[in-house]
Amino acid sequence: MQFRHLGRTHESIPVVGLGTWGIGGEMGPDSSQDRAGIEALGLGLDLEMKFIDTAEMYGAGHTEEVVARVLEGRRDRVFVASKVSPRHFAYDDVLAAAKRSLKRLGLKQMDLYQLHWPNPRIPISETMKAMEKLVGDGLIRHIGVSNFSVEQMKEAQHSLSREKIVSNQVEFSLIYRSVEAGILQYCQKAGLTMIAYSPLGQGKIPRGKGSSFKVLDEIAGNLGKSRNQVALSWVLQHDSVVAIPKAVATDHVKENAEVAEWKLDREDYQRLAKAFS
Ligand SMILES: NC(=O)c1ccc[n+]([C@@H]2O[C@H](COP(=O)([O-])OP(=O)(O)OC[C@H]3O[C@@H](n4cnc5c(N)ncnc54)[C@H](OP(=O)(O)O)[C@@H]3O)[C@@H](O)[C@H]2O)c1
Repeated sequence: MQFRHLGRTHESIPVVGLGTWGIGGEMGPDSSQDRAGIEALGLGLDLEMKFIDTAEMYGAGHTEEVVARVLEGRRDRVFVASKVSPRHFAYDDVLAAAKRSLKRLGLKQMDLYQLHWPNPRIPISETMKAMEKLVGDGLIRHIGVSNFSVEQMKEAQHSLSREKIVSNQVEFSLIYRSVEAGILQYCQKAGLTMIAYSPLGQGKIPRGKGSSFKVLDEIAGNLGKSRNQVALSWVLQHDSVVAIPKAVATDHVKENAEVAEWKLDREDYQRLAKAFS
């Protein structure tokens, strides 16, 4: 596994982590696939992807309960990130939401707590005051945001008096690159980690057809890798980026873990950038 610094902290996190959307349900709880989800996440941890990303919104809280079962009895250190939903951005609501997430996760402390989406109806200064209180009380270790623009990241940082925002979680893949010019550049310059969600285009990359995918398949064939591995590796070519693919199929989990063992060369990276531009 390769590791990268989380923001400008001394902490290192795996470049490939574990997404959890859909495990334990989507907008509501669904226990029917819990066992498969627990096996997949447990396998991912065994393969050194010791970074789990979840959210209070996933499965209306049940996904966090599934994560708790994955963490149960493990002695190894796992970096656990969750997210507070925009409707809970008022000061007291942030504190209450964090406590509920900790309870469901079976943890005393979350490593990273992220604002899931911006909420223009609640002043960011109020939300960030609560996030700093959570750090001060030892309930969370780091503050992150998600789906924030450059301006919103700056505003969020200015609202903090002691802490630094360490990350912005945004959609980024070979087929979704709108963050490249602004958010990615800003994260690199300001020393934030960009956590790439949907790095396989929510499963569209595995199924994709057309001339750009021919280039992807040709490069993958030459390297003896799958197209999904090459697509994930392309995302990770950017210094400040880590990715959180979600996989329930054990073959997918194994493939994703293996991506952290090698790197694309510059030429293949650029060919892909052009083919998918
Ligand atoms: N912050 C946000 O607003 C936000 C939004 C969306 C997602 N996220 C986070 O990002 C995570 C990942 O994003 P995502 O779930 O939207 O999409 P994704 O990771 O791009 O794609 C997931 C899909 O790809 C398949 N897959 C995974 N690895 C594969 C492989 N090696 N080969 C072939 N297919 C593979 C999975 O299949 P199987 O499951 O069948 O293995 C699943 O259907 C989420 O789970 C969530 O934690 C955050």
